[in-house]
Amino acid sequence: MKRTLRPAPTLLGHIELPPDKSVAHRAAILAALAEGSSQIVNYPASEDPRSTLACLRALGVEMEEREGILYVEGRGLEGLTPPRAPLDCGNSGTTMRLLAGVLAGQPFDVVLTGDASLRRRPMTRIAEPLEAMGAGVTLTEGHAPIRLEGGRRLHGITYRLPVASAQVKSCVLLAGLFAEGTTTVVESIPSRDHTERMLGLDTFETGGLRRLSVTGGRRIAPRTWAVPRDFSAAAFFLVAASIVPLGEVRLPGVGLNPSRTAFLNVLRAMGAHVEVHHEREHGGEPMADLVVRPAPLHGVTVGNPLIPNLIDEIPALAVAAACAEGRTEIRDAAELRVKETDRLAALAANLRALGAHVEERPDGLVIEGGRPLHGATVDSFGDHRIAMAMGVAGLVAEGETTVTNAGCARVSFPGFWKELKRAAGI
Ligand code: S3P
Repeated sequence: MKRTLRPAPTLLGHIELPPDKSVAHRAAILAALAEGSSQIVNYPASEDPRSTLACLRALGVEMEEREGILYVEGRGLEGLTPPRAPLDCGNSGTTMRLLAGVLAGQPFDVVLTGDASLRRRPMTRIAEPLEAMGAGVTLTEGHAPIRLEGGRRLHGITYRLPVASAQVKSCVLLAGLFAEGTTTVVESIPSRDHTERMLGLDTFETGGLRRLSVTGGRRIAPRTWAVPRDFSAAAFFLVAASIVPLGEVRLPGVGLNPSRTAFLNVLRAMGAHVEVHHEREHGGEPMADLVVRPAPLHGVTVGNPLIPNLIDEIPALAVAAACAEGRTEIRDAAELRVKETDRLAALAANLRALGAHVEERPDGLVIEGGRPLHGATVDSFGDHRIAMAMGVAGLVAEGETTVTNAGCARVSFPGFWKELKRAAGI
């Protein structure tokens, strides 16, 4: 599927954002492991969180969706059953890495696989701590398919994360539920904290390190989860509404977990006009309504410790940078090379095709903004966030911009193209 964009003079209206996929994956997994029935309000229709549901169903978890609520029959920590076939995680790294943690301590063998993009992503980062806990993990040259051997007894470890990754952190903490003793994860650069929040874990901060511990065998109570709208999806509209000449965009019910919102501060520091209204808390996660109006942007420098907090927003940030006056430098972001595609290479190639001045570095990008963009054909490289970022750029590039392989937006935001085109009136 391809999508063609033209310059939009105005961007206007309420945007229906998808529910947050990070929260959704975790709510589904914790509901499956709970002792009793849980409800998840606002479970997303996006492909990634649906991959998690399909895997949980294959592990014997019953669930049903009625009137926007997903009812999950939890099986307790010991109740999962062997799947009949390899579990297909689709395009979803979170599904694969979190489920590997859940499945490393089961009495049965299981294989986790995914699409071609997911089978290229690094899995040694989860195999190492799981093996240190006593799991039997066989990778395929460092990648999926991953075979987890059943019947291993796991024991708690203290693990200092070598890469700032919420997926690796969550994998180890979930495995810790099935391990004897206490499992502690230590992080030096904070990553998104949904897992520890949702499990109600205590966090200890000493000497610039965050320590999170979970006790093996800890029972999970069933409950009602409410999934806020996805800040990472909102990011594309925060940028679009800032760079299009006129209009006002409203983004209701956006999750504003502080471990996810560094991009909001960065965009404001670039000069964006974003109002935050009706701040509230829902299901343990802060949320609010955002209103964005056009504003002249200027360049900015971003690096650690902020990078994990805005890792998924960098494609949107790169488009904002191309439209901003002056130089933007993105550093410490080599992790982008092992996402759904090499996002640094994809952004550099696509923004250059649109006429932007971009220098690609091993761990980031330097973008000299303010040059007028012109339409071109750019590819998503099969990556949902590259597709959406290019859609936003297409609203300000002179002439026609065509995004090829644009359908992958459905991985995290099935309504993206409809919402973008409706708000832009094109
Ligand atoms: C996620 C963590 C991040 C992020 C991904 C979702 C999560 O990955 O990029 O989209 O839900 O834990 P890493 O933790 O591997 O950086």
